[in-house]
Amino acid sequence: MPQGSSILLIIGGGIAAYKSLELIRELKKRGCAVRAILTKAGHQFVTPLSVAALSGEKVFDDLFSLTDEVEMGHIQLSRSADLVVVAPATADLMAKMATGQASDLATTALLATDKRVLIAPAMNVRMWQHPATQRNLATLAGDGIAVVGPNSGDMACGEFGPGRMAEPLEIVAAIERLLDGASVSPPAPSLAGRHVLVTSGPTHEPIDPVRYLANRSSGKQGHAIAAAARRAGARVTLVSGPVAIADPAGVETIHVETAQQMLEAVERALPADIAVFAAAVADWRVASASGDKIKKAGGRAPALALTENPDILATIARHRQHRPALVVGFAAETANLVEHAQAKLASKGCDLIVANDVSLTGSGIAGGVMGADSNAVHLVSASGITTWPTLGKDEVATRLVQHFAALGAEWT
Ligand code: CTP
Repeated sequence: MPQGSSILLIIGGGIAAYKSLELIRELKKRGCAVRAILTKAGHQFVTPLSVAALSGEKVFDDLFSLTDEVEMGHIQLSRSADLVVVAPATADLMAKMATGQASDLATTALLATDKRVLIAPAMNVRMWQHPATQRNLATLAGDGIAVVGPNSGDMACGEFGPGRMAEPLEIVAAIERLLDGASVSPPAPSLAGRHVLVTSGPTHEPIDPVRYLANRSSGKQGHAIAAAARRAGARVTLVSGPVAIADPAGVETIHVETAQQMLEAVERALPADIAVFAAAVADWRVASASGDKIKKAGGRAPALALTENPDILATIARHRQHRPALVVGFAAETANLVEHAQAKLASKGCDLIVANDVSLTGSGIAGGVMGADSNAVHLVSASGITTWPTLGKDEVATRLVQHFAALGAEWT
């Protein structure tokens, strides 16, 4: 983060506003100057006094304050910052931004600014998934507005799903990225008019009618990529194995169980401009699954003969008729990450491998990246290796989609 950067923080009216106080603290720790605008609804959740105490600056909250207009007009307020951050960005604020309203100081500053804007959406899961919000999000992405989060999880309203505001440190990481490239980065590229195909989740390979082989994939990363591609304006088809998370709004989601079904669904969804294979496909299936439940037989464990599943990524990367212009694979590895990813790039015939370390860390066997909310990835392609810091899976998805769109010039 460039020293002495100046942030204009707009605090909307949501329960997550308390996290914005922590965000101010983290930004100040990093030497940023933070000026805050508190919306009328924001006042219901945090007090101007606590915001002022943490930021060390006067809090702005009244468009028609004569003193402010003399000391600093709203135009100057929005332009004196290096970056404008909206956290929490409520459904209402997003709608106002998407339609260019200027009904109060916050929306006026957002309309008047000539700086990049980052929003951290926070709202109830149904509000987030509502087509109107997703439409507004796609509009904002098309306008070059950067987005961090929202994350999935338990919500203050008692529901579960995407809608929780990104954590303060995730927002700080997004701010750092934008500030580091602020002078050179173009507005967020758009995938409007593109068809993006994504696979996600595990596959279940039946042993008998009640048992199956599976893996720990949660589908979070693949689903986040599908949602991010949708936000970037693409038509998105998501082919998902069995997962416990919701279908992303505005995305055509096809539910499958086995690797063979996943391959068939993917082939039916072609042609696509970009195909992203984030599913953790079972490498093997039981050669002949039993039609009846296998019974214990005199203490002898049954022998399971396995046979290899089709490699969906390799099949599509070598598709004669409909190879997508950009084919992206994932490499889940526990050792020699980059070497294995480079080998997979060649053996599967894809254009880019997103390599992640799924080695078991933290709380035992299920404590690795599978199922977690964050991911540390390396991008491996013929043109080299790029390593990203550990980021929320939504942020990884947003960045990946921006990367795909930026590559667009090469593959159109
Ligand atoms: N993949 C696929 N079909 C398969 C196996 C894997 O489409 N039958 C895709 C995954 O979606 C991922 C990539 O191939 O994009 C690599 O998956 P990974 O499990 O890391 O590699 P494998 O090919 O299974 O190789 P290995 O298990 O030996 O590391």
